[in-house]
Amino acid sequence: MNMRQMWVWMLLMALAFVNERCHCCLEEERISLLEIKAWFNHAGAAGSYDQLEGWDKEHFNCCNWDYYRVVCDNTTNRVIELHLSSVNYDGLNAVEDLDLNSSLFLPFKELEILDLSGNQLVGGLKNQGWCELKNLEHLSLSGNNLKGVLPPCLGNLSSLRSLDLSDNQLEGNIALSHLSHLPQLQYLKVSNNYFQVPISFASFMNLSNLKFFLCDNNELIATPSFQPLVPKFRLRVFSASNCTPKPLEAGLPNFLQSQYDLVFVDLSHNKFVGEPFPSWLFENNTKLNRLYLKDTSFIGPLQLPQHPTPNLQTVDMSGNSIHGQIARNICSIFPRLKNFMMANNTLTGCIPPCFGNMSSLEYLDLSNNHMSCELLEHNLPTSLWFLKLSNNNFKGRLPLSVLNMTDLDYLFLDGNKFAGQVSGTFSLASSFSWFDISNNLLSGMLPRLRGIGNSSLNSLRGIGNSSLNSLQGIDLSRNQFEGTIPIEYFNSSGLEFLDLSENNLSGSLPLGFLASYLRYVHLYGNRLSGPLPYAFCNLSSLMTFDLGDNNLTGPIPNWIDSLSKLSIFVLKSNQFNGKLPYQLCLLRNLSILDLSENNFSGPLPSCLSNLDFTASDEKTWVDTGRETGDDGSRKEIFASIGGRELENEGFYLDDKILWPEISVKISVELTAKKNFYTYKGDILSYMSVMDLSCNRFTGEIPTEWGNLSGIYALNLSQNNLTGLIPSSFSNLKQIESLDLSHNNLNGRIPAQLIELTFLAVFNVSYNNLSGRTPEMKNQFATFDESSYKGNPLLCGPPLQNSCDKTESPSARVPNDSNGDGGFIDMYSFYASFGVCYIIMVLTIAAVLCINPHWRRRWFYFIEECIDTCYCFLAINFPKLSRFRR
Ligand SMILES: *[C@@H]1O[C@H](CO)[C@@H](O)[C@H](O)[C@H]1NC(C)=O
Ligand SMILES: *[C@@H]1O[C@H](CO)[C@@H](O)[C@H](O)[C@H]1NC(C)=O
Ligand SMILES: *[C@@H]1O[C@H](CO)[C@@H](O)[C@H](O)[C@H]1NC(C)=O
Ligand SMILES: *[C@@H]1O[C@H](CO)[C@@H](O)[C@H](O)[C@H]1NC(C)=O
Ligand SMILES: *[C@@H]1O[C@H](CO)[C@@H](O)[C@H](O)[C@H]1NC(C)=O
Ligand SMILES: *[C@@H]1O[C@H](CO)[C@@H](O)[C@H](O)[C@H]1NC(C)=O
Ligand SMILES: *[C@@H]1O[C@H](CO)[C@@H](O)[C@H](O)[C@H]1NC(C)=O
Ligand SMILES: *[C@@H]1O[C@H](CO)[C@@H](O)[C@H](O)[C@H]1NC(C)=O
Ligand SMILES: *[C@@H]1O[C@H](CO)[C@@H](O)[C@H](O)[C@H]1NC(C)=O
Repeated sequence: MNMRQMWVWMLLMALAFVNERCHCCLEEERISLLEIKAWFNHAGAAGSYDQLEGWDKEHFNCCNWDYYRVVCDNTTNRVIELHLSSVNYDGLNAVEDLDLNSSLFLPFKELEILDLSGNQLVGGLKNQGWCELKNLEHLSLSGNNLKGVLPPCLGNLSSLRSLDLSDNQLEGNIALSHLSHLPQLQYLKVSNNYFQVPISFASFMNLSNLKFFLCDNNELIATPSFQPLVPKFRLRVFSASNCTPKPLEAGLPNFLQSQYDLVFVDLSHNKFVGEPFPSWLFENNTKLNRLYLKDTSFIGPLQLPQHPTPNLQTVDMSGNSIHGQIARNICSIFPRLKNFMMANNTLTGCIPPCFGNMSSLEYLDLSNNHMSCELLEHNLPTSLWFLKLSNNNFKGRLPLSVLNMTDLDYLFLDGNKFAGQVSGTFSLASSFSWFDISNNLLSGMLPRLRGIGNSSLNSLRGIGNSSLNSLQGIDLSRNQFEGTIPIEYFNSSGLEFLDLSENNLSGSLPLGFLASYLRYVHLYGNRLSGPLPYAFCNLSSLMTFDLGDNNLTGPIPNWIDSLSKLSIFVLKSNQFNGKLPYQLCLLRNLSILDLSENNFSGPLPSCLSNLDFTASDEKTWVDTGRETGDDGSRKEIFASIGGRELENEGFYLDDKILWPEISVKISVELTAKKNFYTYKGDILSYMSVMDLSCNRFTGEIPTEWGNLSGIYALNLSQNNLTGLIPSSFSNLKQIESLDLSHNNLNGRIPAQLIELTFLAVFNVSYNNLSGRTPEMKNQFATFDESSYKGNPLLCGPPLQNSCDKTESPSARVPNDSNGDGGFIDMYSFYASFGVCYIIMVLTIAAVLCINPHWRRRWFYFIEECIDTCYCFLAINFPKLSRFRR
């Protein structure tokens, strides 16, 4: 650098300094910003990560403090934008509530944008200073804990163009809120509060600029004697889902009939009583792009408009009472249809043939209808990534062409009447994540799967050349498939769910596989034989393992503890034998153990008491997916929507994200006499049960088992157990069913058992018990003779023989006084094992997936709403865009 350059450099530096000096922010505003910082710090926000770093009294020009949070006007140098979203938030940890003090913002006389969202603000909005911020154009207070009604002075913010009050606990009738005095208002979002929103919307009639109105999760209320007014606004977006906690007789919001610019309408989860399907929404709104009317109690046929609705891409009308056929001309009326959800209606007929050529169609859910026809090859477009036709009456042969659809991720054809021999090999396209053809009438040898599994292993074996690494679930259960299980079903590197139950499969279990991701294996109800192969010790992720109702033999292997995540383990009704290995006691997550109806022998391991059998979230199946890191996001599928043409008009809507919902049904049959509870939903995750009945266990019941404090049902009947009933059983505080019948137990029934207040089933019949029955108190008042019979030396109510009598020596009679020859009363035997199975079904309402997001319902909204807001602001008010997340 020569001298001259040096001078120029210094001159520039000096100029910059002068510039800094001359364009300082107002002292008053600078002080106020520091007060704001102090206010946030007061709540501990500065903790580990100071969101207002750089706000510093050493630096005079507060306009330069923080480009993202403070923006000043170029000429006046007054603060015009304050972006204070998520300041009271240290990245991870919850921070303290912060009392809203709006006086802090009063000095910013020219403030146009104020964003205080996500700050855990508490308190009300009453008598607050913002009402004096006359220049405010954008105000966001969303995602706080604000309470109370809206103050009338909000109506003074006459410049306001967007107002976001969503996700608070605000209340009151929104019509009384003076928001109707804000002529510039374009965007109003009040979702997720406790507002009452009159269904007439009369008070907003004069807001001619209003385009976005979002009020989900509030309460729509009927308005008496409402004259249909024609509002001055032309809404683009109207979202009022889940707004009728009580069924609403008033019907649909009437003003919608005069709207014709609607692009997005969501009225899902509302009970509009007896309302016919509003086909005029299509007729009137040719720009309509997304229509969500899920679970809205609409009745009648799916009436298509006369004229095409060219922009319509997403229609969700699941869960209504829509009947009739889907019109054959749907493809010309909705030429760009992309996501079509009509599940849970009463549609009949067939898939319209034109769908086969509709290359825009990507997501089709027609499950749970009454559709019935032969599904022809090429009736379905290859553009689909999600196809669900479950629980209809589709018949004929399985349309094998769907297996070749290279974009298909999810295929559900279960619960139909597809029939016929399926032979050879399924070559599933490599895109497949889930493949379910269960509960049909398919027969033939269980198909080989091409492409599935560890590719190197497979190419060695000459099976296929591409590997289905994305395949997570296969369900071929409840068909009539035969033959042995080909190894590739166990040998897929990503497979988590495998259900082949209730077929006619035979032969032994496969050997030599590497399925370390498998979490659910259901093979019950086949004719599988042979022992549990060593290869299964590789299934270290296994959570439910159901081999019931087969012909399997041999002992429970002593490597069983390598299945350390096992939560449900069912070997019921096989030919297993031998002693129970102590390694069983190392399965710390076990909550259902059903070993009934086998030939197990030897003593009951006392160490089983180490398993507390307490059901808990940690033990259930929805969670603990493998960590896939970035890979998990692969499955976040965005159904992108005509954003571009909306953008041209100055609007942009982000998409709702379609989360495929996969219901995994796990049924476990458990014997528990007289147990007729119906267990619904995922109650199974709270159940903890041990059933060892109908084996050849000998010896005493370990006293330690009194520590199984979380257990709901314990069945040890039909064994050869001796000794006493442990008095420690009075510690089984959760127990609802205790069956010790048909053993050789002796001694007295511990009187303390009457402390078991949940006990609904108690059976100690056919043992050698003696002495007094427990006092007829609490639950024991409900047990009758059948609980005790077959114990000649027992006395006291509800039995006939009174204790005075039996205790006299003459009353002791020989054991076989029943006179029917055996110790098993056949009637009660059948009652236990025939009629009285409880069948519990668990629906895992989430994908076995990897990503915690997937546990959300498949149509979630959270992100979308936030993004809608930001995107709207970003496009219309570009200054904001750099703040976009
Ligand atoms: C500041 O001034 C420059 C040039 O005069 C202009 O381009 C810019 O848009 C102004 N910024 C704001 C925020 O007004
Ligand atoms: C609110 O802020 C103003 C201005 O900083 C201050 O004078 C006042 O004490 C604050 N009120 C409360 C309740 O903290
Ligand atoms: C603000 O609104 C209140 C209530 O609506 C009204 O009484 C008051 O006059 C308004 N203040 C100004 C400055 O407009
Ligand atoms: C809307 O404006 C009309 C006339 O300008 C007026 O009569 C009416 O009261 C206004 N309605 C509301 C709800 O403000
Ligand atoms: C919209 O549809 C309703 C019902 O068919 C009708 O009464 C109304 O006039 C239509 N509005 C427009 C603008 O066409
Ligand atoms: C259909 O109804 C069932 C049972 O109520 C429910 O589990 C399922 O989520 C519904 N499906 C859709 C797509 O709404
Ligand atoms: C599926 O693809 C395979 C190979 O690409 C082909 O051999 C087979 O015929 C196709 N099946 C159907 C039903 O289209
Ligand atoms: C079960 O296996 C045994 C031999 O282990 C065989 O004798 C019997 O027939 C099999 N039962 C069935 C139903 O396959
Ligand atoms: C039960 O065990 C006793 C001895 O503990 C034995 O004598 C008897 O034969 C066994 N009964 C059965 C049915 O196995």
